[in-house]
Amino acid sequence: MAISSTGITGRNSDWGSDFFGTLNEMPPEPVNGIGHTLEAMSTLPAFRDARHWVLRNLGISQGSSVIEAGCGNAAALPDILSAVGTEGRVVGIDPTIAFVEGARTRAGQLGAHKARFEVGDIRAIPSADGEFDAAFCDKVLIHAGPPKAALGEMVRITRGGGRVGAIEWLPFFAMSSSQPAALDTFNDIFRKAVYEYFISCNLARHFHASGLQDVVTEAFLAHTANLNAHPFWRAFIVQQMPMFIFAGLIEEAPAQAFLADIEELNAKGEFSVSFIVQAAVGTK
Ligand SMILES: C[S@@+](CC[C@H](N)C(=O)[O-])C[C@H]1O[C@@H](n2cnc3c(N)ncnc32)[C@H](O)[C@@H]1O
Repeated sequence: MAISSTGITGRNSDWGSDFFGTLNEMPPEPVNGIGHTLEAMSTLPAFRDARHWVLRNLGISQGSSVIEAGCGNAAALPDILSAVGTEGRVVGIDPTIAFVEGARTRAGQLGAHKARFEVGDIRAIPSADGEFDAAFCDKVLIHAGPPKAALGEMVRITRGGGRVGAIEWLPFFAMSSSQPAALDTFNDIFRKAVYEYFISCNLARHFHASGLQDVVTEAFLAHTANLNAHPFWRAFIVQQMPMFIFAGLIEEAPAQAFLADIEELNAKGEFSVSFIVQAAVGTK
């Protein structure tokens, strides 16, 4: 079935987003590249453990209903199905048409015939009040907001006593480098490019402001001492660099110098990189 983005209504003047809100306007190549990176991110232990922690704390069980707002290509679907079973009601919404198509393909491959994936915006979720036992989002509040609008919608469509969860990360790479200025330039890419850079550190405040109670938070460390230890590290740091250069977020020369330096450190066994992922869950 062809998908259009016309299902998204109700834009408000305070809404904002970064490049993740404009993927429908991009050619397929960079969108596929981002999809590939999301796939790698989903299996990185820190993101995977954060997702498992949220799903464990959402109060869902076999037969429950759950929605992921900003589901991307449904990388979380196998874990959601483990939590609610094939009789559970699984819905995912995302404004990026290519990702919704990918999510539907994944659902078909997994035999998740009752899972539904639709074009939609976290700030205007096309669902009725109290329709779900739980709602969550994963790496979305950093890209689209304000958090009040996004969390407000997730709270609205969750039943009383149901839970809402979010996973976010601070894209600051604590990375070994013999060129600190180049590392600064690299970290500046994300500081400049994302919509709400520090959202991961402020989840509890935003959850309280949205009326959620009994808010609990957890942090997860992503770390490696080898660029090749997991596909995420090269996919995110090395393979995305041409896109960052093309987007004008970093100049070609410092980008290449930065990459050459970390490759050399990595080859000598002198490399390490870390960042922090945070998650929160609260009760309506
Ligand atoms: C970093 S990806 C995360 C995708 C998925 N949650 C995952 O973990 O793989 C961010 C996602 O947010 C989506 N997005 C951007 N603006 C959005 C909005 N206003 N409402 C919902 N999702 C949005 C993008 O299309 C993209 O799929």
